[in-house]
Formats: sequence, structure tokens, C-alpha cells
Amino acid sequence: MRKKILAANWKMNLTHTEAESYLQSFLTEIGEVNDVEVVVLPPFTAIPASVSASEKMPALRIGAQNMHWAKSGAFTGEVSATMLRALYVKYVILGHSERRTLFGETDEIVNRKVRAALDAGLRPIFCVGETLHERDSNQVEQVLGRQIRQGLDGVSQKDFTEIVVAYEPCWAIGTGRTATPAQAEQAHAFIRSVLAGITDGPTAEKVRIQYGGSVKPDNAEELMRQKNIDGALIGGASLDPRSFAQIIRCAEAALI
Ligand code: 13P
Repeated sequence: MRKKILAANWKMNLTHTEAESYLQSFLTEIGEVNDVEVVVLPPFTAIPASVSASEKMPALRIGAQNMHWAKSGAFTGEVSATMLRALYVKYVILGHSERRTLFGETDEIVNRKVRAALDAGLRPIFCVGETLHERDSNQVEQVLGRQIRQGLDGVSQKDFTEIVVAYEPCWAIGTGRTATPAQAEQAHAFIRSVLAGITDGPTAEKVRIQYGGSVKPDNAEELMRQKNIDGALIGGASLDPRSFAQIIRCAEAALI
């Protein structure tokens, strides 16, 4: 049984003081969480404050939204996996479509980052997803297959279960247009079959695959009920602590 993982990608929002008050409201709102894992992914500057606030909730982990693949060096403006680990960060988003399209990250760059994160003991939330054009021209499987094979190239068997895959169709991100539960489930099942091809069936069964793209309290439960959907990566709706808490409740309700 894979434990569902609900993650808030704040993107470039919230200062460290705003993060503190967000987490205070969130912890009051959510109370106790036992059956799912919760991750908050603030911008770098709000990580230390968020780590301190997270100590009050055992099910809550803090992650980062990006990192560089090198351990250290002359890379102005970048942050390494070692630096994140030193702050007790557990997860890092890699290969997000905004990084791929706005900052030119290729499958090869994403792969370097995935391997560096695993080497440092960070768990990658490895994002894949097709554009609308790719969906309309029937290239979904081809694109997902390439992103997964190249992005996870060279990952050792034992590291596979450290990775969380996030399926985020680009056309559903920030658009209000969610993939239908059936569309998402079909993509997730395909992703799991690709993972089985590069590792083995039992290992692929253990990997958690999140859905991301306009997840909200009113569509979360049905998505979370799908067989191969093991959680959500939430952007816009996670900026309100109440709606993030509601989405977590939906994921818990889907377990029953
Ligand atoms: P939205 O939930 O705002 O569509 O963003 C999804 C996303 O990109 C999460 O990483």
C-alpha cells in the first residue's frame, strides 16, 4: 500500500514571515494527520522558518523547488543539495514544467539533478507531463516515456523507491482545467508501466505517482480515488492554508 503524498508547491510566493503565519494557520486547521504524508515546498528564503514551524507536525516535511547538480563551486545564484540537506530539507522538485519551459532545463539537466539529489539523500519529486499540442497530436506516451527514461537514467535500483513522480500535464497547470480522473489514471498507469520496464514490476508498484494541475478541494477526492494516483502536487490552491487542508482531508476520505 503506497502512502499518499500531498505536496504544496508555493512557487515564487510568500516571504519567510508570510510562511510562518501560513503554517500557523495550516497547523491549526489541519490538526492531526496520520494516514497521508504532507510536504510544503516554499521558496528557498522561507525554508528555515518553515522547517522550524514543521516541527510541530510529525507528518509534515519541508522540500525545495529546485537545486543545482554540483556539490559546490562557481555557480552564482544556485543552491546545492548539500545546502538543502543541512537545513533538514527532505524533498526537492525537479523537472517542473516551469523550469523546463522558462529556464531551459533539458532531460539531461533534470537527470543530473535527480542523481545529485539522490546522492545527497534528498528525495526528488520528479515532474513529467505533456503540452496541449503534444496531447492533441497523440504524443502523450512518447513524451512521458522519453522524460522518464532520460530523466531517471542511471538511477540505481535501490534509489527508485526514494523518487516520487509527479504527472503534471502542462495544459492543466494554473489553467483551472484539470485532467479528468480517467485521463490522469491512464497516464499514471502508463508511467508505472514505463517504470516497471526500467526497474522491475514490484519496484514500480512501490513508487508514488502524484497528479498535479489545477487540483482543488472540489476535484481532489475523485482524483485520489484512482488506483495509480498516489497524491497531488498542488500549486495555486495550496497558497490558502484552508484549501490545502481541505485537499488533504479529501485524500484521507479517498482511503475509506
Ligand atoms: P496549479 O495547482 O496552480 O495548477 O499548479 C500545479 C503545479 O504546477 C504544481 O507543481
